[in-house]
Amino acid sequence: MIALYSLLISVHVVSLLFCAGPLLVLALGATELPVPMAQRLTRVASLGLVGLLVTGAAALAMTGPAFIHTWWLRLSVLLFLLIGALTGRLRRLTRDPGSARRVRTLAGVTAAVLVIVVYLMEAKPF
Ligand code: HEM
Repeated sequence: MIALYSLLISVHVVSLLFCAGPLLVLALGATELPVPMAQRLTRVASLGLVGLLVTGAAALAMTGPAFIHTWWLRLSVLLFLLIGALTGRLRRLTRDPGSARRVRTLAGVTAAVLVIVVYLMEAKPF
């Protein structure tokens, strides 16, 4: 059971990489990226988010009441929804070739919110 839980959390963190990696590439280099590549990056980031949700929910199911009533988790889930909405907006923006600057800013903001969730999930401050 512990081995399965560790595997689940490992996949959770790998999903985080697949989400954060593309967002950072977009935040740092969107003005130089071709549109199809920017679109592919936002698609991969969305898949990373799906992975985070599925593995996070499975981890919660395995831990029962241990985390479900904590504020770090509630706030993280709210921020997760915000990240999902921002990534959806990013996907739409990348379809427009003239929006590279806005893509860059939005990807940076989304990555910053992701960093806050990483802190909440690691530190569990409240
Ligand atoms: C933006 C999305 C998310 C990010 C960046 C994120 C990040 C992380 C990180 C870095 C950890 C710590 C892994 C470790 O070192 O043990 C973690 C653990 C965890 N996450 Fe997430 N996560 C996200 C979304 C979610 C969601 C949506 C849920 C629940 C539906 C969730 C549930 C959990 C649980 C239960 C743990 C295990 C806590 C523990 O055993 O200490 N996560 N997450």
